[in-house]
Amino acid sequence: MVFQSYNFKRAFFNSNNENFMEKKHIIKNILDEGDKKAVFVHEMFDNIASDYDRMNEIISLGGNIKLKKRIIKTVPIKKGMKILDLCTGTGDLAILISERLNKEVCITGVDFSQKMLEIARNKAKNYENIDFIQADVLELPFEENSFEACFIGYGLRNLKDLRKGLLEIKRLLKPGGYFVNLDLGKAGGLSGQLIKLYMNKIVPLFGKYIHGDSLPYQYLPCSNEKFPSQTELVKLLKELGFNNIMNTDFMFGSIASQRAQK
Ligand SMILES: C[S@@+](CC[C@H](N)C(=O)[O-])C[C@H]1O[C@@H](n2cnc3c(N)ncnc32)[C@H](O)[C@@H]1O
Repeated sequence: MVFQSYNFKRAFFNSNNENFMEKKHIIKNILDEGDKKAVFVHEMFDNIASDYDRMNEIISLGGNIKLKKRIIKTVPIKKGMKILDLCTGTGDLAILISERLNKEVCITGVDFSQKMLEIARNKAKNYENIDFIQADVLELPFEENSFEACFIGYGLRNLKDLRKGLLEIKRLLKPGGYFVNLDLGKAGGLSGQLIKLYMNKIVPLFGKYIHGDSLPYQYLPCSNEKFPSQTELVKLLKELGFNNIMNTDFMFGSIASQRAQK
């Protein structure tokens, strides 16, 4: 895996003359450029890793773990299953799945950010059933039909090629295997407007004053704008040959989860 550095860190992360609108414009352009997006995302998560869990709890107003527990319950996980947690980050989903089955499942967490994985490995040091590997989700080193279930939490939105990512997931699942995605969704109506305001104005301020930089938290609403809605995702999953697709909205649709089977 070769990560060519565009040195976004120097360009943005340490910028003293912070300019919200300018950064937003730059982020939106980067999101349209596949390879640059991947490098940007990789460097961004390496950069925010130490604050990631704390910021997640603040932004989600304490609902992050509860939501993850809910989506895990949508899959009939049984002892001995082989389960993937893609874009595992600091490993919460992997750990929660493991706890649900009393550590009697075999979980592989995958992420390309070394810094996020360091935290995940530390949090899961007493879980011998969880293995973390550094890899790109678009080029996974596993044989086809290898896993009974695959989870991805707030990860799909970050991939430079969504279609390729979903096809890779399908390739790795056993026939009948479960795929669960959890990510930001698109909320409508007044609640949608309020949530948009929260994501665009308040969340970057949390980023600035708590993490010390608003950029990663401006990336959040920008990447969501470019990401398909839950309805479009369901359509895409169908088009790619997944079955029994079901969408569940949370928080007025500002967060959504799709569950499907191969
Ligand atoms: C928003 S975090 C989600 C972490 C965790 N799943 C959670 O729910 O909190 C997204 C993670 O995806 C990882 N990521 C993004 N694109 C990736 C890719 N192409 N391959 C591997 N990991 C990727 C990032 O490094 C980051 O850790």
